[in-house]
Amino acid sequence: MRRSLLTTGTPVLGICYGQQLIAQLLGGTVRKGDKGEFGLAILDLRDGQSQILDGVRDHQQIWMSHRDAVAAPPTGFRVLATTSTCEIAAIEDPTRRLYGVQFHPEVVHTTQGTRILENFVFQICGCRKDWDPGRRIALLEDQIRQCVGERNVFFFVSGGVDSTVAFTLCLRALGASRVRGVYVDTGLMREGETEFVERTFRGLGAGVVDIARCEKEFLAPLALVRDPELKRHVIGEQFVRVQERIIEARGLLDGHWILGQGTIYPDTIESGGTANAATIKTHHNRVPGIQKLMESGRIVEPLADFYKDEVRAIGRKLDLPAELLDRHPFPGPGLAIRCLCAESDQPLTRVPEGWLIPVRSVGVQGDARSYSPVLAIEAFPSQSSKLQDEATEVINRTAGVNRAITRVAVREPLERQRVFASSLTHGRIDLLRRADAIVREMCHETGFDSEVWQFPVILIPLGAAESRDSVVLRPIRSVDGMTADSVAMPDDLLHALSARLMAIDEIAGVYYDLTHKPPGTIEWE
Ligand code: XMP
Repeated sequence: MRRSLLTTGTPVLGICYGQQLIAQLLGGTVRKGDKGEFGLAILDLRDGQSQILDGVRDHQQIWMSHRDAVAAPPTGFRVLATTSTCEIAAIEDPTRRLYGVQFHPEVVHTTQGTRILENFVFQICGCRKDWDPGRRIALLEDQIRQCVGERNVFFFVSGGVDSTVAFTLCLRALGASRVRGVYVDTGLMREGETEFVERTFRGLGAGVVDIARCEKEFLAPLALVRDPELKRHVIGEQFVRVQERIIEARGLLDGHWILGQGTIYPDTIESGGTANAATIKTHHNRVPGIQKLMESGRIVEPLADFYKDEVRAIGRKLDLPAELLDRHPFPGPGLAIRCLCAESDQPLTRVPEGWLIPVRSVGVQGDARSYSPVLAIEAFPSQSSKLQDEATEVINRTAGVNRAITRVAVREPLERQRVFASSLTHGRIDLLRRADAIVREMCHETGFDSEVWQFPVILIPLGAAESRDSVVLRPIRSVDGMTADSVAMPDDLLHALSARLMAIDEIAGVYYDLTHKPPGTIEWE
């Protein structure tokens, strides 16, 4: 950003690094903090009137994700608020119409975040409030028609909310004769998925979507892949190969067809797709083969500017069934990124807080990606405990760790367990699929699935003797997937679930992920 942007009189709100940038550019100072501040914090207001914090109550819950901080604001700025870790948590210079907050008002965990954004957008910038994603349907259909022109659209549908809503929008914009879809069964899907997809699309029109069974093609090249990013690339490239074969077999290569995708905004940000975002995870629909299609203009992504909750709102306006719209998000690379692998056998390490498990998972700290071992803390999860808060604190103070889990049930004590050399085999994916089906069934029966936004079930190669894999439960609450809270499960459901999972001989243990996002991402890979 250029300094001149701050001198035009246009209002600017700097969030997190944005506040730091304003300070740095205008003669203040920014320094690395002694410790990080990742997660919930309390905002204490200083006395005096403020435009940006107008109407915000003192002692509010906010969400932080930073280590660097403003140490001295530029001349003309007033410090508005502090937290126990951050002396300068909000600043403003109303004369120059410049505002900064170190915390994140855009996430739900900042209780009065919307109020702050409203102050900026409506009071300070003077905007009018008339935004409703559902009302944009006609506009989206126009955009689709413009982008597609005379061509037809071909989709690889996943059965998820995003690709189904994008597909339905294209159907409405172009008519059933110009839109076709194929669902690729990669062998990495959940139990019952293919049948669900068949049912859903039959409801949208006979023959618009076919099923292609390609399990072997995906599993063979994944056999020795352990790195999460490489998994995504292999799966993405395989998707492109399967797609090209299908397109060729159907004679769709003549330039009359383009590819439709259900990419949504967070996919773009976290894949480093916006100019300044770091790559946390390369989502499978941003791999080189697809990039090439995008560069040659043969792609339409009608939902690329929307968040998940907005996509659901559009889906409701389109009258898509609730069974589909209420589905938890499921990642494109499927069970592959929930089945973790290890290069070699490795022991666990005893640390003051518990055990360090040498299985690495992805995290997001500040705006950067981390890939670190997991800490198993010594405590038993219970609905009444505040383990999640403790976990956040432990992760913040323990260097080199981005995720904490706790044990629900184990066959052998942790001192006798190890991480086993393992890869993505048919058997392990099948084991994960069985575990996932049990979790889904019990959460549906008890209604717990409607209390969470997503519930990944992860398989890690941790165990002893013949039982060489453990299951990690990761129920989270979120609004848009950008941040998330680890959710405490009802004790009786947790016990019943773990009893059913432990009845499977190959499963050595059941664990519970206590990590919020940040510092851990929702998926482990
Ligand atoms: P993370 O794990 O980054 O996930 O906190 C945020 C949301 O994105 C989903 N996710 C993916 N979806 N392809 C997808 O289509 C991917 O490679 C991918 N990785 C994560 C994740 O399930 C969550 O809803």
